[in-house]
Amino acid sequence: MDKLVVRGGNPLVGTVRVSGAKNAALPAMAAALLSEETVILENIPQVRDIVTERNLLTAMGAEVELGYGRAHHRTTISCRNLVNAEASYDLVKTMRASTLVLGPLVARMGHARVSLPGGCAIGARPIDLHLKGLEALGARITQEHGYIEARAERLKGAHVVFEKITVTGTEDLLMAATLAEGESVLENCACEPEVVDLAALLTKMGAQIEDAGTRSIRVRGVEKLGGARHRIIPDRIEAGTFIVAAALTGGDLAIANCDPRHVGALLSKLEECGVKVAIGEDSVRIASSGPLKSADIVTEEYPGFPTDMQAQYMALATQAEGMSAITENIFENRFMHALELVRMGANIKIDGHRAVVRGKTPLSGAAVLASDLRASASLVVAALVAEGETIIDRVYHIDRGYERIEEKLRSVGAQIRRIGRLIPERAPAAVAAE
Ligand code: EPU
Repeated sequence: MDKLVVRGGNPLVGTVRVSGAKNAALPAMAAALLSEETVILENIPQVRDIVTERNLLTAMGAEVELGYGRAHHRTTISCRNLVNAEASYDLVKTMRASTLVLGPLVARMGHARVSLPGGCAIGARPIDLHLKGLEALGARITQEHGYIEARAERLKGAHVVFEKITVTGTEDLLMAATLAEGESVLENCACEPEVVDLAALLTKMGAQIEDAGTRSIRVRGVEKLGGARHRIIPDRIEAGTFIVAAALTGGDLAIANCDPRHVGALLSKLEECGVKVAIGEDSVRIASSGPLKSADIVTEEYPGFPTDMQAQYMALATQAEGMSAITENIFENRFMHALELVRMGANIKIDGHRAVVRGKTPLSGAAVLASDLRASASLVVAALVAEGETIIDRVYHIDRGYERIEEKLRSVGAQIRRIGRLIPERAPAAVAAE
């Protein structure tokens, strides 16, 4: 199993480019199921979850071509001949976002069989709101042998109010409603940029959607959707991770190819911590040399502080002078990284949904274990300022959502390498095609 070895102490200096957003690419690929025509997606990140999604779609009969050479971030998907409307347990257990195929499949094929996701390292993560929404659109839902079956002759437009804001739930229902008969109004929707990006793609495919990006989305169902070409938005969480890494290491880093509007909550918090932020059109420059000040965060739905940046922020808080209270409001069990940070020397006390970090405490390199995607990013960021060498195990978590993170960090001065590969690393295109 691969490990990352990081030697701390170097400030990050230079320019790092952000890849396409994993969490926008996954629903976009699922959206291709809605059409018989070809969907071409640009700026697809080369990360493990995309390979999983490709496997999911091909198991249904879709043709998914991952680009190579200079076009290695392009993916072409044709779902003309779908043969199997099923997402198996093997795939869903490795990636919960597989449940995003439920809405599109039932809308296009009239039925779907999708494994229920099991437990998750960050909390219960049920999909009841996806199911309630699909039922409101007229799907008959049954559950047997760990699988959800959804059936409908044709979905019918409806008024759906989400009891709780859910990102993939909003995306799933939005996709389903595009092919439903009549109008749907979805309320208490997620406003995340990934939802807006999905709506932009669906609109290019011929869907009639109004007000995506607000809490209430209106969709007029159409008979058929066509093909489209679409460029995925930059990954705001990858950008945020580099932003925190630059602030923490006292670097001077330009984060290029990002959308600064999507990282607003993080940037204002870092300014409160004393970090200098300069915003460009599609870049952010972070300069930090003085001491960091503590500041509290509360994770919230967009445009609030993202839960996907909480772990990385906690790493930063260990190096800020004073007490930072970190409240996690989205997931019930998302503090696994705290225990690993404590092993590196952090002073963190957890009480339910709240963690209190007292800084600044020196961090020292240790052998640590990544428990989920963002927890592993937090450990990498902490390791960049730890004294000595940190060995991060289970980095397959980080490979799910960060494209060549060690190469990107190395290019701006970090001492980081991967160990444990028994065979030489293949070209990125070949890795994605396995
Ligand atoms: N929830 C329910 N019932 C549902 C759906 C959600 O109770 O049917 C609850 C969840 O348990 C959670 C809250 O609602 O407490 C919000 O969950 P949400 O559905 O918004 O999360 P998600 O759609 O499963 C996406 C991202 C996550 C990100 C969250 C929150 C994708 C593929 N995943 O998950 O990303 O943390 O939104 O912003 O878009 C990551 O990239 O590391 C990651 C975990």
